[in-house]
Amino acid sequence: MDGVLRNGRRRLTFRTCLELSHLLYVMQRIVKHRLLVQECTISFLAPSTSRQLCLNNTAAVVVSSIRPYSVVPPSSDPEEKAMLHRILRVDHAGEYGANRIYAGQMAVLGRTQTRPVIQEMWDQEKKHLTKFNEILAENRVRPTALLPLWNIAGYALGATTALLGKEGAMACTVAVEESISEHYNSQIRALMEADPDRYTELLQMIKEFRDDEMEHHDTGLENDAESVPGYWLLKNVIQAGCKAAIYVSERV
Ligand SMILES: [Fe+2]
Ligand SMILES: [Fe+2]
Repeated sequence: MDGVLRNGRRRLTFRTCLELSHLLYVMQRIVKHRLLVQECTISFLAPSTSRQLCLNNTAAVVVSSIRPYSVVPPSSDPEEKAMLHRILRVDHAGEYGANRIYAGQMAVLGRTQTRPVIQEMWDQEKKHLTKFNEILAENRVRPTALLPLWNIAGYALGATTALLGKEGAMACTVAVEESISEHYNSQIRALMEADPDRYTELLQMIKEFRDDEMEHHDTGLENDAESVPGYWLLKNVIQAGCKAAIYVSERV
């Protein structure tokens, strides 16, 4: 009887060991699978983001909110692709033009007390342009064919208004930044109407840039933009030019 019990106990122990080893094997597979999933998901992220995730060891927590693209979702149909390319092309052209305007202003007022004010706004424009350069390359979007024109026209506008003094440069800033802010607002409205969930990242970026442009607009007003002689005429002429530039840059 004891022998049977002993044998039974032995058999039981052996079976338990088998079950335990099987259980361990299954757990190992699950852990391996989870790591693979995390690794795949992390590889879709921008390098800086993945590094951060690895450092924080929080990959599993954020897996559900990750998308396999940086800002612009892959186009599902030609119509959407055309719409997104139009948005990116004109925004890139606008930021490029803004950079050239500040370069022109700096060429004239770079040795005056206004330099830090212009430099601060220009630095932000450089960041905007760098971002759009990245997005255009990433999504194979052709920039507008009119970049050489915006190069000269932007610089000339910045320099000539700066020749009117600090107030002239600031009036130009107010006019241009107001136009760009309105343009970004119309894009935000269009994307919100189309599909806010699909364009979350793009919307977030445009809103952030729009806020920067509004800040530049306010900086212009705070620095006596309205004091320049013929302020309203100058502003309206510049804004008419901006509208034309936006219209053409979307299409060419
Ligand atoms: Fe900008
Ligand atoms: Fe700006």
